[in-house]
Amino acid sequence: MRKYTDSEIAGFGLNPERIPAHVAIVMDGNGRWATMRGLPRGAGHRAGVNALRDIIRFASDIGVQALTLYAFSTENRRRPKEEIGILCGLLIEYFNREIDELHANGVRIRSIGDLSWFPTAVQEAVRNAEQKTANNAGLKLNIALNYGGRAEILHAFKLAYADGREPDEATLSTYLDTADSGDVDLLIRTGGELRVSNFLLWQIAYAELYFTDVKWPDFTRDAFIAALNDFAGRERRFGGLK
Ligand code: IPE
Ligand code: IPE
Ligand code: MG
Repeated sequence: MRKYTDSEIAGFGLNPERIPAHVAIVMDGNGRWATMRGLPRGAGHRAGVNALRDIIRFASDIGVQALTLYAFSTENRRRPKEEIGILCGLLIEYFNREIDELHANGVRIRSIGDLSWFPTAVQEAVRNAEQKTANNAGLKLNIALNYGGRAEILHAFKLAYADGREPDEATLSTYLDTADSGDVDLLIRTGGELRVSNFLLWQIAYAELYFTDVKWPDFTRDAFIAALNDFAGRERRFGGLK
């Protein structure tokens, strides 16, 4: 739920008229963050989870309507079993620890992607968070877990056909996992790679892209504000003229 007034938002150096409705983030760089410090990769993932709270809270407080976070891609299933196990443990811990505060702030949590691949304990933690927050009217927080953009589009097609519909663009959009969050306005990728890695392929058609070398565990509120400011300065033409 938006907490700040326009003038308070301006006090952060942000233009209250140019807050993106839907922000998506590829939270990359955890492993390198840890390696640089001589720590195991799992320590980077833990630090990455800890970075989440401020960003979600701030997004909610300034009135971002939807925030979609890439937590685990379909391709990440190629990672060593041990790393996947650590990530699963962190997910369970995260949802159990943060759910009350997120709920109190009116955040509505949904996962996107194929959750059924995860161990039951992960599925339960996620489903519990979804159920508890289902009726909240604040920030729509979509967490991509075992998510792939191509798989999502294919799935949407199949659902549409199962309903006996040959989808046009508008119809297909309603079958996507993020249907009620709409197109992405601002896509942020931390960690320095300049690629999309199969994230929200349909929804980013006209997103503004923002890449930063900052590794996800170091992505603070100030780094987020810098991204939002960059977005505020973009001229969005959607193929038309100025
Ligand atoms: C992103 O950090 C988190 C996941 C993909 C789960 P990485 O684990 O990809 O970190 P780097 O890219 O190796 O630094
Ligand atoms: C993208 O990061 C997926 C997530 C952040 C969850 P990766 O580290 O998996 O992406 P690639 O392998 O560099 O493309
Ligand atoms: Mg990576």
